[in-house]
Amino acid sequence: MSFTIPNMTVEDGQKVAGILQSRLEALTDLHLTLKHVHWNVVGPHFIAVHEMLDPQVDAVRLMADQVAERIAALGSEPIGVPGALVKNRSWDDYSINRAGAIEHLAALNLVYDGVVGDHRTAIKDTEEPDPVTQDMLIGQSAQLEQFQWFIRAHLERSSGDLVSAGEIHETSAAGSVPADYDPA
Ligand SMILES: [Fe+2]
Repeated sequence: MSFTIPNMTVEDGQKVAGILQSRLEALTDLHLTLKHVHWNVVGPHFIAVHEMLDPQVDAVRLMADQVAERIAALGSEPIGVPGALVKNRSWDDYSINRAGAIEHLAALNLVYDGVVGDHRTAIKDTEEPDPVTQDMLIGQSAQLEQFQWFIRAHLERSSGDLVSAGEIHETSAAGSVPADYDPA
C-alpha cells in the first residue's frame, strides 16, 4: 500500500483496511446465509420469516459494498472472492438446511451475535485511526442490531426469556425450540 486518506499514515490505513476486510467477509457470509434461510424455511411461520429476510439481505449487501469501497478508498484492495472468505473466516458454514421458522431464527440469532459483536469491536478499534470508518460501522451496527431484534422477538416469551436461552451452537439452539412452541 503506497498511499491512503490524506492526513492518515499508511500504517493506519493498512490497519483499518485489515479490520474492514474481516467485516467484508462477515457481511458477505451473512447476506448469503440469510438467503439460505429464506430458501429453506418451512412451516406455519413460513411467509412471515421468508419475507422478513429479503430486506435484511438487501441491506447487508449494501453494507458489504460500502465496506469494500472504503477499503479501496483507503488505498488497499478489497478481496471479495469466496475462496478468500472461506480461508480467512473463523467460523463454519451455517449448519441448518430445511427447518421450521423458529428453529432457523434461534440459529440465526447466534449468527447475529457474532456479526454484531465483531462490528462493536471494529468500532472500538477504528476510533483513533479513522473516525470516518468508525462512523460507517456505527451506522451499520444500528441496522444490524435492529435486524437481530426482529429475529430475537420471535424467540422471546412475554416474560422476557428467550426460548433458546443459554444455547451457543446453531444446531442445539434450533433443537431447543419445543415442537408446540407458542411465542407468548
Ligand atoms: Fe426469494
